[in-house]
Amino acid sequence: MLVIGGPASNGLEDSIGKSLHARSVKAVSKLFPDGESYVKMPEGIEGEDVVLVQSTYSPQDKHIMELLLMADTARELGAKSITAVVPYMAYLRQDRRFLDGEAISSQAVLRLINSVGVSSLAVVQPHKSTPFDAFNGRVCIVDPVPVQAKAISKILNDPIVLAPDKGGVARAKELAEILGCKYSHIDKVRDSITWEVKIEAPLVGSFKGKDVVIIDDIISTGGTIAQASREVLSKGAEKVVAVATHLVMASGAKDRMKGAGVSEIFGTNTVPYDGAKILDIGGQIATSLKA
Ligand code: R5P
Repeated sequence: MLVIGGPASNGLEDSIGKSLHARSVKAVSKLFPDGESYVKMPEGIEGEDVVLVQSTYSPQDKHIMELLLMADTARELGAKSITAVVPYMAYLRQDRRFLDGEAISSQAVLRLINSVGVSSLAVVQPHKSTPFDAFNGRVCIVDPVPVQAKAISKILNDPIVLAPDKGGVARAKELAEILGCKYSHIDKVRDSITWEVKIEAPLVGSFKGKDVVIIDDIISTGGTIAQASREVLSKGAEKVVAVATHLVMASGAKDRMKGAGVSEIFGTNTVPYDGAKILDIGGQIATSLKA
């Protein structure tokens, strides 16, 4: 087995390779003067089970293109099998036509990855698992919650877990079960034109004096977490800790959350970000691949 890190692996090929007892190397990459991507694969691919590690954080389209170039080259060079580990998979939130004529982006991206010879795909906590129907091959969903629970359990006193929208309830329940506490959720709606977020129904649960852990898959603008934080602090919460997997962090996201009273932010290394406590998810990816 050969683990190859792409330009957007964020170093994860090393911890994945180490946990799998496999050699890990980095592909060479650069840009042509006109902005096109260039990738050169390492030697020794023929006959190998190749694991490509390439996240697809910003610039998403470039990183997807690099993944396609790497996989197509691995196929051409005679890899026995190709697994793509895409720690953060972009485009999964656009998994249906919300408005007439919109692209179903998740489906298009998954079909592209399939078309260059990737037969197995591993993704850390995708927004939903339904888009993967468009991928013809094995899909391995990596669950970061046990890693997150272990890290935050050390800093909590009398916690309650909160999902900032209905879609995150299962995640909140899982975390609460590990922490041995209660969980609740917010009913959030997002305007499909302006993308503004609003709370739809009153929050259920007792937050007075509690350390509230708000868990989400992605933090982008920070608006969802900020709104949830203000809500629980207005109900008497003692402390708010934000836990997410993919810290996409659009400009101003951290300030927005801090301004809403979030005291600590935890993320993982699926996306490079140095403004929070970052947990290494490589071991968990390897464990999931082995399983
Ligand atoms: C959406 O449903 C996701 O689970 C996240 O809640 C969302 O992507 C967070 O976005 P933002 O940080 O921009 O509010």
